[in-house]
Amino acid sequence: MADMRFDAQVAIVTGAGHGLGRAHALDLAARGAKVVVNDLGGTVEGTGASTGPASDVVDEIRKTGGVAVASADNVATPEGAEAIIQTAVSEFGQVDAVINNAGILRDRSFMKMTPAEFDTVLAVHLRGSFLVTHAAWPHLRAQGYGRVVMTSSPAGLFGSFGQANYASAKMGLIGLTKTLAVEGAKYGIKVNAIAPVAHTRMTAGILPDELAGEFGPELVTPLVSYLAHSDCAATGQVYSAGGGRVALVVVAEGPGWVKKDGLTAEDVRDAWEQINAVQPQIVPASAGEQTAALFSALQG
Ligand code: NAI
Repeated sequence: MADMRFDAQVAIVTGAGHGLGRAHALDLAARGAKVVVNDLGGTVEGTGASTGPASDVVDEIRKTGGVAVASADNVATPEGAEAIIQTAVSEFGQVDAVINNAGILRDRSFMKMTPAEFDTVLAVHLRGSFLVTHAAWPHLRAQGYGRVVMTSSPAGLFGSFGQANYASAKMGLIGLTKTLAVEGAKYGIKVNAIAPVAHTRMTAGILPDELAGEFGPELVTPLVSYLAHSDCAATGQVYSAGGGRVALVVVAEGPGWVKKDGLTAEDVRDAWEQINAVQPQIVPASAGEQTAALFSALQG
């Protein structure tokens, strides 16, 4: 099989000054994509800003003969998101793939978490991914082609202590992914999400340093490059990746239990075991498919 190339394509990677985003940008550029390397250049907590990290990655790409341009815009503002897309269009004439990767942490147990800590984290991960994708969308629609990758997290999919803000944002991205997959279908736009595990500055205090070698970002990037490629037919899906393992993650519904007339709280209590059965399960591709399954179950 031929190598997966991105010649004549333009990719945007947000938060590409460090960690996972940097690895994605390097791989896409090495495969021939012209890359907008976006990074606000602040701390893990999202304070401060610097043009340094994005420029450094652009220098790294150019040194190996790749094509890239830096953007230090903030994904969390409409102006910043628009500027990122405009950089791609003015420098390279188009946008083919958008990798929403920028992120910050403001971890705190739920009791102590302030509304500002909640809002700030959602603003970067969820609203930032919305804003950047929204600014790119007219271009993707007009050309009848696009690939969008959202960066979710096991914390959002499965829950994580001290991360109510982060987990909410990351699960919100799954709803965004699945809805944009539905809306993008007739325009050739495929939208998928990843839930990575990698040793980066963000996880330095969580994943032990001894595991840094085994959990490098470059073991997540191949999934992102595949999802960003025209070969990828998947859409609306979520894949976890870390340490070289790649797995499908699904939102499934069990077979359920039915009592059409006079359902009471006591009925629910008494049928709790059947209600909690997970097999046989369905994995709906949209809310419509879930509703169709409901109708079919009600018809017996
Ligand atoms: P990182 O801190 O190395 O990279 C995040 C980058 O986003 C930083 O370079 C930062 O400057 C940039 N950024 C932050 N706010 C920005 C903004 N408003 N506009 C533009 N750029 C901004 O962390 P890492 O680990 O590489 O994280 C990348 C993504 O992967 C994040 O969305 C993170 O939540 C997600 N993730 C990472 C996991 C891991 O194990 N490393 C696990 C699950 C999710």
